[in-house]
Amino acid sequence: MLMLFVFGVLLHEVSLSGQNEAPPNTHSIPGEPLYNYASIRLPEEHIPFFLHNNRHIATVCRKDSLCPYKKHLEKLKYCWGYEKSCKPEFRFGYPVCSYVDMGWTDTLESAEDIFWKQADFGYARERLEEMHVLCQPKETSDSSLVCSRYLQYCRATNLYLDLRNIKRNHDRFKEDFFQSGEIGGHCKLDIRTLTSEGQRKSPLQSWFAELQSYTQLNFRPIEDAKCDIVIEKPTYFMKLDAGVNMYHHFCDFINLYITQHVNNSFSTDVYIVMWDTSRVYLYQQTENGLIQ
Ligand SMILES: *[C@@H]1O[C@H](CO)[C@@H](O)[C@H](O)[C@H]1NC(C)=O
Repeated sequence: MLMLFVFGVLLHEVSLSGQNEAPPNTHSIPGEPLYNYASIRLPEEHIPFFLHNNRHIATVCRKDSLCPYKKHLEKLKYCWGYEKSCKPEFRFGYPVCSYVDMGWTDTLESAEDIFWKQADFGYARERLEEMHVLCQPKETSDSSLVCSRYLQYCRATNLYLDLRNIKRNHDRFKEDFFQSGEIGGHCKLDIRTLTSEGQRKSPLQSWFAELQSYTQLNFRPIEDAKCDIVIEKPTYFMKLDAGVNMYHHFCDFINLYITQHVNNSFSTDVYIVMWDTSRVYLYQQTENGLIQ
């Protein structure tokens, strides 16, 4: 089986801390809810887990007579399992093994642990534990780049992309797409750590090829008006797996879903950019119905 993991690089404007943000503004119009609860686009049964990870929203909900999630405030101990604050007895689930394949591992406990880390929420936990800053902002308006090991998952703020000189060819994932200075940010870059993350360089397993030319810029892309377009909406970059069958497309959905968990953000008011460096082909229908 081909296991291809795609990780979102996230481009957005705001803070680095996902889980402990300042409470949203609680001064609002009477008769209006204190938070836009409709923006939490999750199944009702996932709401306690979401509130566990977003205590600032739970706090607002407690004060807000119009909060539709009051009944979940009693269940805030429930968690997915990857959170530092998650007690095993309250986690969403954990595998139960009844048989050990000796060629694979030797105890039931380690079989369960391996399954949890490779095929369950333990996977998100490992990525979260690996997160480290590669480009450190000095001021809040600076850029930042934070990634898990081998750049499998990255989060960038105020990311500068210069697409003026790029050359496209048939490669869907061209490895030298960006030259030095064409991707980067205004922050202090740890270039040694960045260059040491290349061991999993491979189109669908890492963002190393795209980020190895990440450059510490001596200008502020937005304040110094160096950009023609500034995108403020939170954005996921995804490299899609082969589009030939449903199995591969489901991998893309799973990868995006894991990325939402790792980033602790489930808003659907986002852009999703399909990262593909190949030439744009023109598909046409011919007289006998074939697509070229
Ligand atoms: C990722 O999380 C940050 C911090 O909570 C948030 O501001 C940003 O919008 C999220 N990114 C996406 C693409 O949802």
